[in-house]
Amino acid sequence: MPQTNPRILLARRPQGAPVPEDFRFDEAPLPDLADGEVLVRHRFISLDPYQRGRMDAARSYAKPVEIGGVMECGAVGQVAASRDARFHEGDWVLGGFGWQAFSARPGRALIPIDPAEAPPSTALGVLGMPGLTAWVGLTDIGQPKPGEMLVVSAASGAVGQVVGQLARIAGARVVGIAGGIAKCAFVKDELGFDATVDHRGDLDAQLDAACPAGVDVYWENVGGAVQAAVFPRLNDFGRMVMCGMIAQYNTAAGAAATGAPPGPNLGPVVRKRLRIQGFIVNDTGWQRYAQFRAEMLAHIAAGRLRWKEDVVQGLAAAPAAFIGLLQGRNFGKLVIALD
Ligand SMILES: NC(=O)c1ccc[n+]([C@@H]2O[C@H](COP(=O)([O-])OP(=O)(O)OC[C@H]3O[C@@H](n4cnc5c(N)ncnc54)[C@H](OP(=O)(O)O)[C@@H]3O)[C@@H](O)[C@H]2O)c1
Repeated sequence: MPQTNPRILLARRPQGAPVPEDFRFDEAPLPDLADGEVLVRHRFISLDPYQRGRMDAARSYAKPVEIGGVMECGAVGQVAASRDARFHEGDWVLGGFGWQAFSARPGRALIPIDPAEAPPSTALGVLGMPGLTAWVGLTDIGQPKPGEMLVVSAASGAVGQVVGQLARIAGARVVGIAGGIAKCAFVKDELGFDATVDHRGDLDAQLDAACPAGVDVYWENVGGAVQAAVFPRLNDFGRMVMCGMIAQYNTAAGAAATGAPPGPNLGPVVRKRLRIQGFIVNDTGWQRYAQFRAEMLAHIAAGRLRWKEDVVQGLAAAPAAFIGLLQGRNFGKLVIALD
């Protein structure tokens, strides 16, 4: 058992896009265990867009990481030591941990994972927070019906790939918006979406061709120019699932100084009786995790649901991989594999 815990800390708050100097590598002693706590050795840690928000001091739905604090993340790992009788050495667990090799957490905060059901890293992607996000947002807000047209942005990513596949299972036609030929080809050929739009090309011309009868559900992962192109195409009684706007995450903190990006004209919301709703997966998602996981495992067993991970090796690579996530350099659910 190693005696130290390698960690990545927040060195300072980013000005715009994060740079390597915003992070700091450090080694701490292994945490001591209190009664009821479990020491988890992380095997895979999850890099997700929300972690950009945690780097800013701005008020949000969750507290920011303190300067000098460990960067937050979900992770899957194995129990290394336990003072909770429900957990034993070697058990696989999912939890809210950090960009580090080990965490001590109360056993009640851990979700047991059965590696016989699916590879453990999927608990961070298709069977984890991003998949749960897709499932919650479609169930509660998007509600795609047979024959309807759903458009999803960041379609090859952790959330987008699940959104599109679940919508197709529900009988909708699905168009995925992604950056570049390889991502578009994956979304259409491997995931079975009906059509794709490359946001690096002419958005309007491609959307005209892919959605000639308009859009019934728009799943928003990106914002910015993509949102501006899709929003006017929403049909009467359309739904816009506001999941995230990654294109704006690096500018939000400086919005007061630089001016916020222009939003769409909201006039059509009334005329078209649109529903636009934001949500945070943590609000109700984890209470429904067992139902979600059972449904997803059934889809996987039936060959209806596929996934793609982008696995990067080693904790030290996390800052560069995270910076790349905010520039679209990941291809699939981004996870860091630890030795
Ligand atoms: N509401 C919630 O509870 C919740 C939960 C999880 C995630 N989310 C949100 O869901 C969205 C997707 O998250 P994810 O984990 O699935 O990430 P992801 O799609 O795996 O990775 C991010 C992708 O966003 C795209 N992107 C990045 N910067 C962009 C830009 N400037 N313009 C256009 N596209 C850009 C890139 O794809 P392309 O190369 O294809 O453009 C990139 O690969 C994010 O907005 C995230 O914050 C929300």
